[in-house]
Amino acid sequence: MTAKIIDGNAVARHVRSEWKKRVETLKSRGVIPGLAVIIIGDNPASRVYVRNKVKACAEVGLQSEVHEFPANVAPEAVIRRIRELNQNSAIHGVLVQLPLPPHLEPRSLLGEIAVDKDVDGFHLYNVGGLVVGENNIFPPCTPYGVQCILEYEKIPVEGQNVVVVGASNIVGKPMALMLMAKEATVSICHIKTRDLAQYTILADILVVAAGCPNLITAPMVKRGAVVIDVGINRLPDGRLAGDVDFERVKEKAAYITPVPGGVGPMTVTMLICNTVAAAERKAAKNAGNKNPVTV
Ligand code: GUN
Repeated sequence: MTAKIIDGNAVARHVRSEWKKRVETLKSRGVIPGLAVIIIGDNPASRVYVRNKVKACAEVGLQSEVHEFPANVAPEAVIRRIRELNQNSAIHGVLVQLPLPPHLEPRSLLGEIAVDKDVDGFHLYNVGGLVVGENNIFPPCTPYGVQCILEYEKIPVEGQNVVVVGASNIVGKPMALMLMAKEATVSICHIKTRDLAQYTILADILVVAAGCPNLITAPMVKRGAVVIDVGINRLPDGRLAGDVDFERVKEKAAYITPVPGGVGPMTVTMLICNTVAAAERKAAKNAGNKNPVTV
């Protein structure tokens, strides 16, 4: 068996074209969705991610602005800016690019973002909403992108054995919650899991977000599994690689995402979706509509 290689760029193009229509509708009502991105310090990877976010906004017709701070900024200055952006009616989504310099506490900055502008879905209100199955919250973009890929490829989730490798707040934990909400049987493995293969071999759907190149080898994967690789690792020779031994695992899986070109393009796409959804909800609220569009 050779897996179908999922083209994340094609899925992203499809989703963006659908959401572009929603942006046109908003524009016809005088609303231009706006995203504000706060970046602190000069982490090169963060700079690339922020540039991609700005580019994606322009492509789909959103306005975006980048707020840069030096690495040694005082937390109060960032909080002041977040509060201004919360009040700015032209801005519908606010995010703080992670990771932060060590002297800044992510939870205290992320907690300042208005919950209805928290398009990264990192505020505790949105995290809690995901836990209890609220449908008006903003799902975190990377797991939301994985969910979107599974839907696009018509891969059933209900009743399937899903194994998530990696228990981060950004990917692993919300991914598990989102798939549980779709009635999958979910196991979460992490750095301390003993005999990882004993779990991964049972997975109908294996989602790997561990940040460890070649962690998942072919003998660890069930024949015919769906393998979603969220890892993005820079190898010593400069190449990008995921967490999965792509060349060997693709001979055993039914579906697999490549790195790059798999989940990556979906993360920024879902950020666009969340920002447009935020603008739609705001517009509906302004119009006194009791049934705002949900995602
Ligand atoms: N750093 C890595 N991934 C993300 C993300 O999805 N959002 C933000 N804000 N920072 C990140």
